Amino acid sequence: MENINVLINKARIEKRLDEMAREIEKDYKEKDIVFLVTLKGAVPFMWELAKRIKNNIIFEFIEVSSYKNNKDTGVLTLHKDIKDTVEGKDVIIIEDIVDTGKTIKFLLEHLKDKNPNSVKIATLLSKPSKMVTELNIDYTGFKIDDKFIVGFGLDDNQNLRNLPYIGYIE
Ligand code: IMP
Ligand code: MG
Repeated sequence: MENINVLINKARIEKRLDEMAREIEKDYKEKDIVFLVTLKGAVPFMWELAKRIKNNIIFEFIEVSSYKNNKDTGVLTLHKDIKDTVEGKDVIIIEDIVDTGKTIKFLLEHLKDKNPNSVKIATLLSKPSKMVTELNIDYTGFKIDDKFIVGFGLDDNQNLRNLPYIGYIE
């Protein structure tokens, strides 16, 4: 197996998640929040963040990818849509990593028809150097260099999602 290095350890992740939770509580006061979670990578981040927040949180799941037969087609495909309505609700898109920003752009477009009251974005990681579009990300865990990340939900061809830290492969 390739060499996996620790980029951000569990203690640093937990400290940052505490801070993000406080920011979200401050912004949303007592309001209910819909976490729109992108499958599959954002699932650990979703839970670790949600359990630190006092507001009532409703979970919705969506799956999009630009991959077909393991090849990046550059075209986003919707695999699984939201089941319940988010009309009039305050939505936070929960993403594992913002790379080029194309996935978030697609989701923002997709949500327009569903008439939420508000939409914000929370991501565990972002790679600012890779971004190809103008995006305002409301909550970012860590800004990182352009490395290939695994662990804490992120995968290498579906593997290694369960590492309890954020690692990178050399
Ligand atoms: P974007 O549309 O280019 O912003 O890509 C976002 C998606 O690509 C993420 O939701 C991840 O699923 C995947 N991705 C981007 N960078 C990495 C990485 O370093 N490791 C694992 N998955 C990644
Ligand atoms: Mg993803």
